[in-house]
Amino acid sequence: MEFSITALSPEAAKTGCVVVGVHSDEAHGKELPPPARRIDQASRGALRKALADLPAKTGSTLLLRDLPGVAAERVLLVSLGARKDFGAAQFRDAVRGAAAALRELGAKDAALFLVEAKVASQPLAWNVRHAVLGVRDAFYRFDQLKTQKKAAAPTLERVVLPLSAKPPLSQALVEAQAIADGTDLAKTLGNLPPNICTPTYLADEAKKLARQFKLGVSILERADMQKLGMGALLAVTNGSHQPPKLIVLRYNGAAKSVKPLALVGKGITFDTGGISLKPAGEMDEMKFDMSGAGSVLGAIRALAGMKAPVNVIGVIPTCENMPGGQATRPGDIVTTLSGQTVEILNTDAEGRLILCDALEYVARFEPAAVVDIATLTGACVIALGHIATGLFANDQKLADEIRAAGEDAFDRVWQMPLWEEYQEQLRSNFADFANIGGRPGGAITAASFLARFTRKLRWAHLDVAGTAWKSGREKGSTGRPVPLLVRFALRHVGRK
Ligand code: BES
Ligand code: MN
Ligand code: ZN
Repeated sequence: MEFSITALSPEAAKTGCVVVGVHSDEAHGKELPPPARRIDQASRGALRKALADLPAKTGSTLLLRDLPGVAAERVLLVSLGARKDFGAAQFRDAVRGAAAALRELGAKDAALFLVEAKVASQPLAWNVRHAVLGVRDAFYRFDQLKTQKKAAAPTLERVVLPLSAKPPLSQALVEAQAIADGTDLAKTLGNLPPNICTPTYLADEAKKLARQFKLGVSILERADMQKLGMGALLAVTNGSHQPPKLIVLRYNGAAKSVKPLALVGKGITFDTGGISLKPAGEMDEMKFDMSGAGSVLGAIRALAGMKAPVNVIGVIPTCENMPGGQATRPGDIVTTLSGQTVEILNTDAEGRLILCDALEYVARFEPAAVVDIATLTGACVIALGHIATGLFANDQKLADEIRAAGEDAFDRVWQMPLWEEYQEQLRSNFADFANIGGRPGGAITAASFLARFTRKLRWAHLDVAGTAWKSGREKGSTGRPVPLLVRFALRHVGRK
């Protein structure tokens, strides 16, 4: 799909479909947004006449054909909802609605006049980014494992964003396409089944990215982990026949002397719970337990793809969590890379175990800041549902940066406390501490566990258990929080 920014007039544009927005409270006599007004004038009021058939709900669409005085074959009207309610969420809904209609239609090319609908306080570059991401999201498909492909799935080949090309807009376009590519990668890695997307597969994917974008890559194998003393990571992989990997992927877009941002992603390619076995219902969704890892690969792909002036290092501990004769038992005590000992009271609290060794390891790169991304706790889903990612941080300035990036990317987070008092729940009679803290505040005690390994770092933790994938009919990876991570990295180096 090819996007371009070119000034066009809605009535004269020669394209398969002209897409214009109208507010739901504009049906009668009120002034229309400029592109809709021009179509209406050119067609001698045909657009206004049709408005009664357009449902008010934001993102609803109505297709008009062969309007007199209009060059394009079709005009797609999109509801922007009530004018007074129009904001970031409505812009995104309108884009998605339009994209879904274009897909149904099988349109080959379109001009998205909708893009100019002004969202309070946001620059036009924001519109460009969200228009591209919304359309790409709506057209994403994962059908590589279906033998009957939907009859030559129609794809939108060309999308024009009819604006006058200016440097910030062209930059936003490049950025958005790279973010969409990175998000697609994260989605596909998440959607792949766990018999294909193994730790070895993720390592190969990192090597592939390294070749494609000239990145630095190194993979630590089991023997390397043993030599280093990563007792926690090794405990999780014990029951599996798949070899564990620790992936280190580095993109240098800034001077060597600039300290890197580190992204650490949980890469459990399947989480059965181990000996603390999970119930059978929906266990298939635990293939998404490598979503943190996928988002790190996706974010690095995006940053490298747009040649962003940042240094990033991605660290991905990856293995399977399986039961078996060699599997770790509840009650086992292991020594982590940090030297601290942990009593593993529940083998299903495995994410924090692989992350604690990776977080300890990442310190050697002297990162400016570290963000880990993990589908860490069911408790976070209970706390925040599927809208906000849980944010925890030991540095408020870092937390504020991430929160702002999340708003900007509309990939939002909500900060949770990380107070010392919660540490008490992790006490153990037999080791330095335990890997679980009981039911109360389960997302917080998981983060508190990680905090014991990041005291010397500027660190934030994103619990994406509720946001990395969707269940039910729409089951599939969302690619979150790739948009947030990329925006965070860009804003970190002063790019607005
Ligand atoms: N990967 C799961 C977390 C999870 C569960 C994410 C359900 C999304 C939906 C994680 O490894 C896990 O099993 N966590 C346990 C921790 C508990 C044993 C303290 C949980 O949340 O139940
Ligand atoms: Mn688990
Ligand atoms: Zn897990």
